[in-house]
Amino acid sequence: MVDVLLGLQWGDEGKGKIVDYFAPKYDIIARFQGGPNAGHTLYVEGKKVVLHQIPSGIFHQNTLNLIGNGVVLDAVTFKKECESVAAFGVDYRKNLYIAQRTNLILPTHRALDKASELAKGNDKIGSTLKGIGPAYMDKTGRNALRVGDILDKDFMAHYEKLKAKHLELIKGNDFDEEITAWENEFFTAIEFLKTFKIVNGEYWINEQLNAGKTVLAEGAQGSMLDVDFGTFPFVTSSNTISAGVCTGLGIAPQKIREVIGVTKAYCTRVGSGPFPTELFNETGEELRKIGGEFGATTGRPRRCGWIDLVALKFACMINGVTKLVMTKADVLDAFDELDVCVSYKIDGKETDQIPFQMAKMQIDPVYKTFKGWKIDSSALKTAAELPGVMNEYIGFIHEYLGVSVNYVSNGPGRDQLIEIK
Ligand code: GDP
Ligand code: IMO
Ligand code: MG
Repeated sequence: MVDVLLGLQWGDEGKGKIVDYFAPKYDIIARFQGGPNAGHTLYVEGKKVVLHQIPSGIFHQNTLNLIGNGVVLDAVTFKKECESVAAFGVDYRKNLYIAQRTNLILPTHRALDKASELAKGNDKIGSTLKGIGPAYMDKTGRNALRVGDILDKDFMAHYEKLKAKHLELIKGNDFDEEITAWENEFFTAIEFLKTFKIVNGEYWINEQLNAGKTVLAEGAQGSMLDVDFGTFPFVTSSNTISAGVCTGLGIAPQKIREVIGVTKAYCTRVGSGPFPTELFNETGEELRKIGGEFGATTGRPRRCGWIDLVALKFACMINGVTKLVMTKADVLDAFDELDVCVSYKIDGKETDQIPFQMAKMQIDPVYKTFKGWKIDSSALKTAAELPGVMNEYIGFIHEYLGVSVNYVSNGPGRDQLIEIK
């Protein structure tokens, strides 16, 4: 049985914290897509850790972790992450498995990412520049090197061929020095990667499932960044939605049970692209300040705004969400009033559906306003303690989306999560 936990907005919903909380209930935590563009924040023994590629179950002794075939793996970032995890006394090799079919990010992929963004100028995506897009292009273009290939005697020849192809594409850009520096780190990291349990991921996970083990698939990014259903072209290059779990791990759809969707109590986005409820005023600034809304991977300030139920309903539909987790409710403590977007006005017409080309239209959000709860909610422990106005806010979201909010997160700590039964 596989449960899925994924982000319903534009990423950074607090997935890392929630996976870390649920991890002890599962035998295996598996990443199925994305790469080091992800930054999942956890607090372990009161200390902050940001994971990019290692599944968020790594801090739990009895949980196995799988980096699935749908991920694009940067060996250099991976090595650094392993070192940061080791500082907590975790034996990271013991419980971590990597699928042979996982695609590798090469130093030239990062250079290609940079070149692509430079060429786009004002239309740039705001990529994390980790080489994600070019690595997935080499996968669908059928050129990529995969983790299993590092054990192959032809690895270097294949690498040089691909590198030459990439260099041809970025001719004219001055990336030589950077590429050489990245390469040095890369080959050391590849040797490091060889010391891990590199497995046939699809057999491994299906054998585990057949033996009755439970899996939590940990999504990266968010549904509105999905390459097919997100705000294209301002998206990432993988399928971030629940469907990506099947192709990203090699499991059949009927193995999936719950789809747990994570949403902030408001909304953020980092990078370019449409964001109808974005606030350009003081309220937006307040959300950023109180919520500490700065990218976990790049440190960039996140764009902030009110919760967007049109986008959330779309995400619930595409993913088949069965349970909702609402994070960062405590960030709204200080506000007198809270707006909730219930529809979009486009060309004078109101709609509750996500249009095809969001990037090319003027979308005016239509809001319903709620009273703020104006208490310090971060100390609350049980559903019974939630103030009435907060229950109204949560209740409306439940009703609008047709999915119940089963958990409310009221702080970054492991213990700051309230279950609503
Ligand atoms: P992810 O990419 O979805 O794992 O999310 P990030 O780690 O990028 O960003 C979420 C940020 O919010 C992190 O700094 C978390 O520590 C923090 N966080 C998570 N849940 C809560 C919450 O309920 N309240 C507050 N105040 N912060 C939270
Ligand atoms: P987590 O897992 C938020 C955004 C980038 C950019 C776009 C494309 O922490 O939620 P890419 O590097 O994939 O070429 O960038 O997607 N992006 C994220 N935004 N959280 C993430 O991951 C993201 N990963 C990518 O900012 O707009
Ligand atoms: Mg993040």
